[in-house]
Amino acid sequence: MSGQHVSVLGGGHMGRALLSGLLRSGTRPECLSVGEASEAARLALMRELGVSATADNARAVDGAAVVVLAVKPQQARAAVTALAPLLRAQRPLLLSVAAGVRSATLESWCGPGVPVVRAMPNRPALLGAGATALYAPPSVGTELRGAAERIARAVGEAVWVSDEDLLDVVTALSGSGPAYFFLLAELMAEAAARLGLPAPLAQRLAAATLHGAGLMAAAGDADLARLRAEVASPGGTTEAALGVFAADDLRGTVERVLAAAARRGRELGTLA
Ligand SMILES: NC(=O)c1ccc[n+]([C@@H]2O[C@H](COP(=O)([O-])OP(=O)(O)OC[C@H]3O[C@@H](n4cnc5c(N)ncnc54)[C@H](OP(=O)(O)O)[C@@H]3O)[C@@H](O)[C@H]2O)c1
Repeated sequence: MSGQHVSVLGGGHMGRALLSGLLRSGTRPECLSVGEASEAARLALMRELGVSATADNARAVDGAAVVVLAVKPQQARAAVTALAPLLRAQRPLLLSVAAGVRSATLESWCGPGVPVVRAMPNRPALLGAGATALYAPPSVGTELRGAAERIARAVGEAVWVSDEDLLDVVTALSGSGPAYFFLLAELMAEAAARLGLPAPLAQRLAAATLHGAGLMAAAGDADLARLRAEVASPGGTTEAALGVFAADDLRGTVERVLAAAARRGRELGTLA
């Protein structure tokens, strides 16, 4: 992203994750600006990341080649419509990470001539370990797709989907997914503590296990089922544990979990 100015509207959890990832991958702080409503968040961003942050979104966006929309879906309409004349005059790429908000809706808020790409990143972008899926309407050309992809790649892995509806599935899988793993690790630590392990020790071991398993899963062409099978030797402890997951229909639970998140993603789009 060297040289191109990127403006992020909304410096909350996701905005900060993207900014941190971009800085880690070599984007200079002076090439980034943030429009952020909360004063406390602005001060923290300036102090901790060294980027300029303002409550005046028009100022944040001025001169930007890419505007990343990282406010909550319910806040997106107000943020975009207030800037619409400026966006039409300046024509930056609008890269929206807002869950559920359709590209046609974003285009209608901006008015004609503003190219829109949607991205669904996740919070590990903070550490450059994000997973992002991108969607661009057919009208968006190769160069702008490349600009969107460079931002996504600066913060981790990036893939494209050709059907916009699939972004709701991505939201349910990798957008919300880190929370599912955190919950599982949290519950494992609590269960271990109830079995007698000191709670801080249980937390450390659970977090380190999540980290190690994540590294193995991310390596090369890791086959998740094979990785699981390699831990679960026949008749062993892991097999006994996995049997309880199966008996309690973990598969069905996970299916319902992802369906609920995808449904909520679609709902958020309609609320925007
Ligand atoms: N969190 C994730 O892991 C994740 C993953 C994938 C995608 N996303 C997407 O990322 C977006 C942001 O989510 P988040 O979790 O980062 O939310 P968040 O922490 O609430 O951040 C949004 C920030 O934007 C500020 N804001 C609101 N209206 C604004 C405006 N008009 N101009 C500038 N700043 C404004 C908010 O300030 P106030 O608090 O004062 O309103 C808040 O600080 C959402 O659309 C979500 O779908 C999030």
